[in-house]
Amino acid sequence: PSWTSYPEQAETIEAAERFARSVHECDRTGHDWWHVHRVARMVERLAREEGADAFVCVVAALLHDVADEKLNPSKEEGLRKVGDWLAGRPQMTEDERLHVMDIISTMSYNGGGNPPMRTPEGRVVQDADRLDAIGAIAIARTFVYAGWKGDPLHDPRIPPREKMTAAEYRQDKSTAINHFHEKLLKLKDRINTGSARRIAEERHRYMEAYLAQFGLEWEGEA
Ligand code: ADP
Ligand code: NI
Repeated sequence: PSWTSYPEQAETIEAAERFARSVHECDRTGHDWWHVHRVARMVERLAREEGADAFVCVVAALLHDVADEKLNPSKEEGLRKVGDWLAGRPQMTEDERLHVMDIISTMSYNGGGNPPMRTPEGRVVQDADRLDAIGAIAIARTFVYAGWKGDPLHDPRIPPREKMTAAEYRQDKSTAINHFHEKLLKLKDRINTGSARRIAEERHRYMEAYLAQFGLEWEGEA
């Protein structure tokens, strides 16, 4: 949408952008500013297609990783940071602030075990975040993250997490390629909206083709 027709909304979005940038600028854990930026772009598109409130979606997208456990001493402290920021936004209605807070506190992946998002806006923001973990950029993010963590790109001797012994699991050592099987290839079936599902399916096929080629090269067959 054109935020210029809603000057107070444009101001809030710019403030959210500055806040998110300051939090994520130096991040090396897969929660960098450009991830947040892509998610915010994607929610604008999905909100339009799904008829969701784009303002709430964009603000929630910009703040969605501020409270991430990897960036905070605890999830509660992370959420307090978001709550404090929202409390300083008199331009937003009480409903908008509560809605953004609700989305951010309930949307994390959590092994896919969380209850479904309660509102169209929540479904759109969660989908956009998941879409960023599927496809060409996601492949790159996964290897960057594995490098940061000290995991190898591939090791046929290291089983995927669900097949690990308890002792192996505690070591928290996996591989980048295992992460595709542990999480990324499962995301397509956890997408909420039709608009995002079409994008997810295309990106999913791209990842499968990539993994097939990776396997062939590993065996010296391609
Ligand atoms: P979210 O953005 O939903 O909070 P995560 O924190 O799980 O996602 O992951 C952020 C990025 O880092 C994703 O692109 C994901 O693929 C990648 N990532 C997360 N955990 C691992 C891992 N163990 N190995 C490789 N990549 C990972
Ligand atoms: Ni994210």
